[in-house]
Amino acid sequence: DEKSFDEQFRPQYHFSPPQQWMNDPNGMVYLDGEYHLFYQHYPDSNVWGPMHWGHAVSKDLLHWEHLPIALYPDSLGYIFSGSAVIDHGNTTGLGENGKDPMVAIYTYHHDKDGQSQGIAFSNDKGRSWTKYSDNPVLKSPGIPDFRDPKVSWYDQGNGKGKWIMTLAVKDKISFYSSPNLIDWTHESDFNPEWAAYGGVWECPDLFPLEASNGEEKWVLLVSINPGGPNGGSATQYFTGNFDGQQFTTEGQKVKWIDYGADDYAGVTWSNIPKEDGRRLFIGWMSNWQYATIVPTTAWRSAMTLPRELELVSVEGDDRLASRPIRETKGLRSSSESIQGPTHQLKAPLFELELTKANHEKASLTLSNELGEKVVFKIDGDQLAFDRSSSGKTDFEAGFGNLHTAPLSGVDIKSLRVFADRSSLEFFINDGELVMTEIIFPNAPYLKLDFEGFNENAKVHYLASIWDH
Ligand code: FRU
Repeated sequence: DEKSFDEQFRPQYHFSPPQQWMNDPNGMVYLDGEYHLFYQHYPDSNVWGPMHWGHAVSKDLLHWEHLPIALYPDSLGYIFSGSAVIDHGNTTGLGENGKDPMVAIYTYHHDKDGQSQGIAFSNDKGRSWTKYSDNPVLKSPGIPDFRDPKVSWYDQGNGKGKWIMTLAVKDKISFYSSPNLIDWTHESDFNPEWAAYGGVWECPDLFPLEASNGEEKWVLLVSINPGGPNGGSATQYFTGNFDGQQFTTEGQKVKWIDYGADDYAGVTWSNIPKEDGRRLFIGWMSNWQYATIVPTTAWRSAMTLPRELELVSVEGDDRLASRPIRETKGLRSSSESIQGPTHQLKAPLFELELTKANHEKASLTLSNELGEKVVFKIDGDQLAFDRSSSGKTDFEAGFGNLHTAPLSGVDIKSLRVFADRSSLEFFINDGELVMTEIIFPNAPYLKLDFEGFNENAKVHYLASIWDH
């Protein structure tokens, strides 16, 4: 039964679509106790096709309720990636009885007419959607890549403000502003020559965060495909300032939110209450290099664990840390301490906590009874992840390539690893350096070998979010 969510590689505590194809997370917004997650979805096949927005809600970002498809393609085009906001003050006038509507801002992709931006609104907490009658609100300038609007409210003080749209335009970011989500004015462009270009820029996000010295900094996420540090798709980020019109950055170093191969097109939730204050992120846990041919059939691909983004200072540089959300602790069913160098695990869904690694040489190997394995290594000034013998790998020539990440001044104090049926997420120092990797083992990895880590390691077995 494809709806039991019990297929061989089906994630047990990561979000995946009930069936068929999924790519980018879209329109993440919080409202009245619910986290909404929309996603790029093709309901008629397990490969990419005419895009819809699938939809799910959760109270804790881990247990998801699948809802009916929110947005269908229409005569203006497929529904590509975008964002959603709560229109506080009903600036659009689309709220019922003066209430604040939920508004989705997305890209229309049309093979002939190019890409433009449209909006749709909901007055019932995202359960039903109406497209705005005068779409598109931002017309195509006649170029093929003009997409993925991420919209947020920019507070100018004294009760004034405006909507800011961050848009990917070929290989630059363009900022637009609007009083009402309908009329848009171009403000500026961003494309420093030292950034990572390799491919087209996609799925940007712009938000403020408090730096470690207490100052407010702005962060700009830009996904690129191809051109990632380990091949294919990946997300770079910039830190700097945004003055309501223009983004400026300090430093000239390319920085990646995740050095693994499988965290793409991630953006953050809007409308998180002030009392919570977190900047919550989720990414698509795949890579365009092989996303359409990974060995699953009933559904294709999953999301990363949700993560809380924070700025940390490493060697005087602002780095973006991605911490597993604290709600993951609620998945822990039982825990045991593990004594190295070898440990037999009791179940395949787990989180490992290891402390202090030997920088010259530390490694962690997970393997199964078939001799399939993955190796995660700390080797001098770099991390390496080897999935060349991880199980099914031959569906794509580059899938088994070695992935590396420079440590760049990060002093390893801890390592957390989250294992699900077809993914591993490695968080150094609770997310100062991250590698997210998908795998397709023919049997669960239940043997752990480690060396060069302190002996007081722990394993927490995690509960499935599905009732089998
Ligand atoms: C990123 C992306 C977006 C686009 C969507 C189409 O993975 O290419 O730029 O909106 O996927 O599905």
